[in-house]
Amino acid sequence: VRKSSIYLPDELKQLLEERAERSGRSEADLIRAAIGRLLAMPAGADDGGGPDRPLASSVRPALVGVGVGPGDPGLITTTGRATLLAADRVLVITTDDHSVGRAEMVVRSVAPAVRLQRVPFAIVPDEAHREASLQALAGAVLTGTDAGELVAVAVLGDPSQWSVFPALAAAVRQLRTGLHVVAVPGITAYQASASRAAVALGGAGGALVVVDNLAELDRRLGDAQVVVVVYKASVDGADVQAIAARHHRHAVVAELNGLPGERLVDLADLPAGPISYLATVIFPALDHDRVPS
Ligand SMILES: C[S@@+](CC[C@H](N)C(=O)[O-])C[C@H]1O[C@@H](n2cnc3c(N)ncnc32)[C@H](O)[C@@H]1O
Repeated sequence: VRKSSIYLPDELKQLLEERAERSGRSEADLIRAAIGRLLAMPAGADDGGGPDRPLASSVRPALVGVGVGPGDPGLITTTGRATLLAADRVLVITTDDHSVGRAEMVVRSVAPAVRLQRVPFAIVPDEAHREASLQALAGAVLTGTDAGELVAVAVLGDPSQWSVFPALAAAVRQLRTGLHVVAVPGITAYQASASRAAVALGGAGGALVVVDNLAELDRRLGDAQVVVVVYKASVDGADVQAIAARHHRHAVVAELNGLPGERLVDLADLPAGPISYLATVIFPALDHDRVPS
């Protein structure tokens, strides 16, 4: 009798042995991780039907994109946190092995016990480097899923928007047809920023667009019914102010939302100089703040 599985029935012992063999982890390590996950759940949530039931946790192997943050770690959903706790491995994207990325910071603060694996990703315009990074990330996912694991990839905000997750899902599906792939939605940076500023993101008869360059901003601001959000606003504040003035539109700029040093300011009051990459500019539609009829 192995000491590590003394309390387990034969069937579970067999499954444990197989899982340990496939994943390269010791049986003791797998038991520790499972008990850690159980005890991290609120009492009563471990009956499989509670509100903290992790999405897709009963399906193995699987790839799950989990939205975290985007700034304030508290904005994760209970399903997102439960999925991180249930995962056999949690991957976080980083610029290099030695750097703690923002997704890792959030995961460490909401689920400190999970074992994280950093995967470097080249966030550069060079298509070849990005593709190589994507394949390396897909490879890291498959190392886990080929061993029967539930692999979570934590991404900032919503995995389905402005994130590497859709491309990763496509790459992994191509390599392993039929693998279960799903995402747990997260709160986008523009939702968090609009909430912080208490401005409307939508309303009757309107549309919401997210742009990442000044030409598209200029084109979209012409329609007063459209809420326009600017992401990746590493541009000069004066250029955005000039376009806003041409269309008689107002905006709020949320910088480092939910993070130390955060700032929320009207576009018109923005100090001269570049807007940082971690800023979201929101142009509300002209009449979405009226009470709906
Ligand atoms: C790659 S996108 C983030 C996408 C994410 N998947 C989402 O759902 O929001 C990066 C952009 O999000 C915005 N952003 C991210 N974190 C932010 C924060 N803490 N405060 C303000 N804007 C933020 C910035 O415009 C940044 O350039």
